[in-house]
Amino acid sequence: MVSRRAFLESAVRAGAAAGLTVQPAIRQPAFRRSALRTVGESAAHAAGTSPGELAADESYWAGIRKAFDLDPSLIYLNSAGCSPAPRHVLDGMIHDLRYSNEAPVEYMWRRLEPKIEIVRRELAAEFGCDPEEIAVTRNASEANEIAILGLSLRPGDEAIVTNHNYDRMLAAWDQRARRDGVVVKRVVLEMPPASDADVVERIRAAITVRTRVIELPQLTNWTGQPLPIAAIVALGRAHGIDVLVDGAQGFAHTPSTRDAMECDFYGASLHKWLLAPVGTGFLYVRRSRIESLWPLMPAPASMAADIRKFEEVGTHPAANHNAILAALAFHHGIGGERKLARLRLVRDRWARALVAESSRVRVRTPLDDPRSGAVTIVEVDGLDPVRLYEWLWSRYRIITSPTTFAGLSGVRVTPNVFTSVAEVDTFTEVMRRALRKGV
Ligand SMILES: Cc1ncc(COP(=O)(O)O)c(C=O)c1O
Repeated sequence: MVSRRAFLESAVRAGAAAGLTVQPAIRQPAFRRSALRTVGESAAHAAGTSPGELAADESYWAGIRKAFDLDPSLIYLNSAGCSPAPRHVLDGMIHDLRYSNEAPVEYMWRRLEPKIEIVRRELAAEFGCDPEEIAVTRNASEANEIAILGLSLRPGDEAIVTNHNYDRMLAAWDQRARRDGVVVKRVVLEMPPASDADVVERIRAAITVRTRVIELPQLTNWTGQPLPIAAIVALGRAHGIDVLVDGAQGFAHTPSTRDAMECDFYGASLHKWLLAPVGTGFLYVRRSRIESLWPLMPAPASMAADIRKFEEVGTHPAANHNAILAALAFHHGIGGERKLARLRLVRDRWARALVAESSRVRVRTPLDDPRSGAVTIVEVDGLDPVRLYEWLWSRYRIITSPTTFAGLSGVRVTPNVFTSVAEVDTFTEVMRRALRKGV
């Protein structure tokens, strides 16, 4: 049983260990106790409750919601695109930006930028790797593109991707094909796939003696489909093929550790499920692979084996990446298991209700797969996704995301920890209306 006081003290200790306390001689943002109050109260409330029980405890999640400045006039169901950050996380970043602006070369470069080492250490602890294997990036696209564009490949070398890879990653591969003569093979996956074995088999069938790399998402962008990453990494390793894992939708959402996936390259987004401010991500590269991977922006040869060579991006705000620390503390305050249990409960509430409502409704995410999370797409026969999306937004101020991509045709719906059951019930009711009367 964790008392509120004990929680606050341990969180403040964690903040202090992460270098977030005020240093007397230097005016810097403190890891304010008030910033933790909401989560502290919620932790006291939650003490001794199982993730399953807590998931259904609306008053706990109402406390979590209070940590965000949400527009009460709308329902935000697009966290897979980009999520709001908690107020204190954003405030910390804004404080650092203002502080930087007073004397950038001193306050930003000399005082705030060095904290990237603490960010590196804390992200490594979360992902289960050595800090010397984590590069802090501005988003998952940058992380993945470092790997996609940085591997040494010759004309005729082959890369395997899937039709459900993120479109910007597919564009990066297409550029490698056009520029370097790399042959990119796009494996078609059913959504949802028949089984993990089916996914592995389709990828195995595309391997030839020229295959050098496989790139695929941990969870697919539009359907949140969990792919059998560890099995594909093992397959790649058996053939001497690199596997790049796009973890944009996975990190801080469903269990995501290096050792569970055994991967050598992993790109993550932190402004989706970690709830860090916009402009945050990381790249993991196994230590033995750092030297052979080129950075996107050149770094001195002396940095060839240093993970920091991937951070040589020129002048950039220190505030954004430093705010990752407060987001990590918030994430730990809730707990990954509790968060996922809640996300699945909220998702099931709307998705199972709509599937039960009409045979015209299809949800293309395996709701019973324990590896799946909040990302789900709903397709409705006879409803155009863009028109449905616009109707939801203009009439009801509900934000979703429409797509017709890789054989999908629907709106993606992604709740988050701030989403109330009442909000998804409103969404469900509105969708029932669309089913009955059209949009
Ligand atoms: C699977 C996947 N990869 C990459 C990205 C790009 O992430 P970012 O916005 O952090 O660049 C996304 C964004 O939705 C995604 O879903």
